Amino acid sequence: MLRNWSEVYSVGIPTIDEQHQGFFAASHRLYEQILDREANQGVAEAIAFMRDYAGSHFQTEEAFMRDHEYPALAAHQALHAAFFARLDALAEDLATFGPSPDLAERALDLTQDWLVDHIADEDVLYALHAKSHAAGAPRD
Ligand SMILES: [Fe+2]
Repeated sequence: MLRNWSEVYSVGIPTIDEQHQGFFAASHRLYEQILDREANQGVAEAIAFMRDYAGSHFQTEEAFMRDHEYPALAAHQALHAAFFARLDALAEDLATFGPSPDLAERALDLTQDWLVDHIADEDVLYALHAKSHAAGAPRD
C-alpha cells in the first residue's frame, strides 16, 4: 500500500520532516517505475534518485545528530548503511531479473515501510534528545 507522509510521522524538525516527505515521494516514484514494465530506464533512474535522496537526507540527519552530540550517532549511522546495503541488493535483483510486482512490493517494503519504522523508532529519539538539550537547527 502506498503511504504518504502525514503529521503522525512528524519529528518536529521542519527540515527533516520536509525531507521525509520527499523520501515518500521518491518511494512512490520507484514503486510506480517498477510496476511499469516498459520502464527499465525509469527504474534505474528511480533507484539512482532514491540513492541520492537518501544519501543527502541521511547526511542532514547525521549532521544534526553531531551538532546535538547525540550519543547513539554511530548506531544510527549503521542503520543508514544497512538501508543502502538493502537498496543495492534490490537494484541488483532488478537488474538481474527485471521489474516485477514482487520486486515493486519489496521496494515499498524497503523504502516506505522501513522509513515509517525508522522515523517512529529511531528518528524520534534524536529529535527528543535535541529538544531535551540545547535548541538548534539542522545545518544545510
Ligand atoms: Fe535516520
